[in-house]
Amino acid sequence: MPQSPFIDIKDLSVGYTSRSGKTIPVLRDVNLSITRGDSIGLVGESGSGKSTLALAAMGYFKRGLHVISGQVQFDGIDMLDIERNALQRLRGGRLALIPQNSGQSLTPNLRIGQQISEALRLHSDLPATGFDAGVIDLLSQVRLPDPVGLTDRYPHELSGGQQQRVAIAMALASNPEALLLDEPTTGLDVTTQAHIMELLRDLAKDRNLAMLYVSHDLGAIARVCNKVMVMYAGETVLTGSAKQVLLSPRHPYAHGLLASIPRLNEASLPQALDGRPPMPSETITGCAFADRCKLADQTCHSSLPPLDHLDSGEAVRCFHHDQIGQLNRKPEKSARSNPVAADKDSALSLANLAVSYSRPGLLFKAVCTARHPAKHR
Ligand SMILES: Nc1ncnc2c1ncn2[C@@H]1O[C@H](COP(=O)(O)OP(=O)(O)O)[C@@H](O)[C@H]1O
Ligand code: SF4
Ligand SMILES: [Mg+2]
Repeated sequence: MPQSPFIDIKDLSVGYTSRSGKTIPVLRDVNLSITRGDSIGLVGESGSGKSTLALAAMGYFKRGLHVISGQVQFDGIDMLDIERNALQRLRGGRLALIPQNSGQSLTPNLRIGQQISEALRLHSDLPATGFDAGVIDLLSQVRLPDPVGLTDRYPHELSGGQQQRVAIAMALASNPEALLLDEPTTGLDVTTQAHIMELLRDLAKDRNLAMLYVSHDLGAIARVCNKVMVMYAGETVLTGSAKQVLLSPRHPYAHGLLASIPRLNEASLPQALDGRPPMPSETITGCAFADRCKLADQTCHSSLPPLDHLDSGEAVRCFHHDQIGQLNRKPEKSARSNPVAADKDSALSLANLAVSYSRPGLLFKAVCTARHPAKHR
């Protein structure tokens, strides 16, 4: 039997009032349902409305923004018409948000142990006598080394990745049922990003969380999420399973986002998406993506494509999604497509460089321990 949605956003439009008194929408008729056990990746370029939607799931709207129409429910609770104290209890309680750079917003003059204790005091049922053990347990859950030693440290004594793990530990203090993550690994190095993503994926699975993972990074989404929603200029343009969206995207914009990812096994540079998304204040007469779309025709410029629900389970906002195969043709090779060969006098050239990150398997660890026992104790 299908589960009922835990987070249920229906036909949500959010906007601001311009100086001339006009309502400018930044989200338009967006629908999003997340059940427990779902990890939904929300992708799109900067300004597409990802953060606004994630915050809306908590019933929060940034200063200046207001709900034009629609509904937001969390486990059947109307988040747009809930008493203030009850809303505060839900936020940071059953529903936790990890905003961008949350690791950097730890209180600088409080030790890690004190900060997590405070989160437990505010958001858990633990008695005060259980805080110390609770702190160690949370630090262990986010796989920080030496949890006991860490409790006495200040945030500046931790790396960016460790700070981010502490922020995640604090969000877990309330034993949340839903986790909203807004670009949680931005600013971290790739190896640390990979560790944090692995941690989040495992936490979501072990705790059967409803998870919304906002990112402009499709690679991150692929590692963590089972479903994907692509947004463009405040609208949903594509939804589907992670496999469907990331392996065979049915929308030209999602196709362009994927094509712009650098691939180590291809000599050519990725194809950057030309142009920019329209600003919320710009008048759009047809498809918002038309000015950047290689499949656009007259209809696209004059009519707004509806979000079509396909038999495959995907939903796509495009008149010509059945022609998406045309975009798969490889561009002709240009000097740009082989940057190393293009400039023979270059001072530095790299060819066939491959860098990868992978979690060492047991075999790898066994070999390293045998060769360098001191390093791998
Ligand atoms: N408080 C605000 N007042 C007016 N416009 C806003 C406000 N916050 C965001 N916006 C606009 O809403 C759009 C979506 O913003 P946001 O949700 O932050 O996008 P994303 O997270 O995808 O980068 C952007 O065009 C942004 O400029
Ligand atoms: S509706 Fe037209 S312009 Fe919009 S994405 Fe589809 S083909 Fe491109
Ligand atoms: Mg954002």
